[in-house]
Amino acid sequence: MTTRTRILTGITTTGTPHLGNYAGAIRPAILASQDANADSFYFLADYHALIKCDDPQRIQRSRMEIAATWLAGGLDVNRVTFYRQSDIPEIPELTWLLTCVAAKGLLNRAHAYKASVDKNLENGEDPDAGITMGLYSYPVLMAADILMFNAHKVPVGRDQIQHVEMARDIGQRFNHLFGKGKEFFTMPEALIEESVATLPGLDGRKMSKSYDNTIPLFTSAKDMKDAISRIVTDSRAPGEAKDPDNSHLFTLYQAFATQAQEEEFRGELLQGLGWGEAKNRLFQLLDGQLGEARERYHQLMSRPSDMEDLLLVGARKARAVAAPFLAELREAVGLRSFVNPVAVAATTKKKAAKAARFVSFREDDGSFRFRLLAAEGEQLLLSRNFADGKTAGAVTKQLQSGQALDVRSEASSFSVWLDGEVVADSPVFADSASRDAAIEALRVALTPIED
Ligand code: TRP
Repeated sequence: MTTRTRILTGITTTGTPHLGNYAGAIRPAILASQDANADSFYFLADYHALIKCDDPQRIQRSRMEIAATWLAGGLDVNRVTFYRQSDIPEIPELTWLLTCVAAKGLLNRAHAYKASVDKNLENGEDPDAGITMGLYSYPVLMAADILMFNAHKVPVGRDQIQHVEMARDIGQRFNHLFGKGKEFFTMPEALIEESVATLPGLDGRKMSKSYDNTIPLFTSAKDMKDAISRIVTDSRAPGEAKDPDNSHLFTLYQAFATQAQEEEFRGELLQGLGWGEAKNRLFQLLDGQLGEARERYHQLMSRPSDMEDLLLVGARKARAVAAPFLAELREAVGLRSFVNPVAVAATTKKKAAKAARFVSFREDDGSFRFRLLAAEGEQLLLSRNFADGKTAGAVTKQLQSGQALDVRSEASSFSVWLDGEVVADSPVFADSASRDAAIEALRVALTPIED
């Protein structure tokens, strides 16, 4: 069993990332993913984007820009699972299972929906004017994002805390209804980055696209410079002492400076550095820190097929977790095959486990192999060839030891690994659903019986 902390977060793909998104969400998430204990799932929330935006071009551009920003910022896709929400069909499927247990009253209380209703009422309109079911169900989709991967920690902005709480509510209700004592879903916790969440914008309010006060991140050095020149300052002239602690220009500088750089800048402002020169310093600092990443960003944007490939690999990694889990959840709610062995196995877990058996045999070349047969006799696994019976026996022992199974799926089969080697293969299945069902049956068969 792994004890790593699973961190999961998504960014809605409706805009171009700005400095505030980078410092407040992307940069801390990349840093967090470098911790050896972190198992990070980061994704482009492009189904969420459809709720707010009906401009296909903009959705597409934003998906690419946000993907390129994560990658240019140094995200290591070998360490993390980086994917597009819309590449994971299990997410909308889970959304439906959760929709069927989510209380309507709970969703009535969602801030985003309530704000839209209030606005309609203020304008003397029908309370639901212009409100889609997408907006209304937004928190259920987000719950599915989080619960699908059993995330422990969910880094988000303050406005999203309520949604993480709703994910807990909905997950708990599902656990209660269908878990039969088993907790299908881990209860997630919102993680708020206090120190960076409030990067100020040009006018000193929180940097946000809706206030039109953002500093562009990677578009070009000139764009960044232009925006910086529009930072609002007080009217103190060059030579007059400035108050760093009441200057959001200084706050912006701080967010990217080392302790030493910060102290130096503070001293200069106190000694009367002019605002024009101060803006220049801020630009130099940001350009120095982000210039290389900007180059990588433009390279990535010019070769979208590279990003496509990376994201498809990420989707495969995510689905390797999501598909078997969803198979279990479908099973739990009663969406079961009429014929496949899982239904039988899951309802008579103990019997199946008791009855599954290893059968070893010897090949003509003298090597040893074994099969694992389920209670009903169908083959779950056929081992690779082992030089002697002792090795084969040790492998069957390890498989029954209760340690976490390392199962790796291919298109229509799977294999079981021990210590970095394939030890056994499954039969070939007609489709991935029967493959996943068989993986589940295998896990059940190899679960040690406690009694
Ligand atoms: N709703 C989030 C936002 O707009 C984005 C998001 C979607 C998300 N699904 C998520 C964040 C799951 C964290 C976890 O900021």
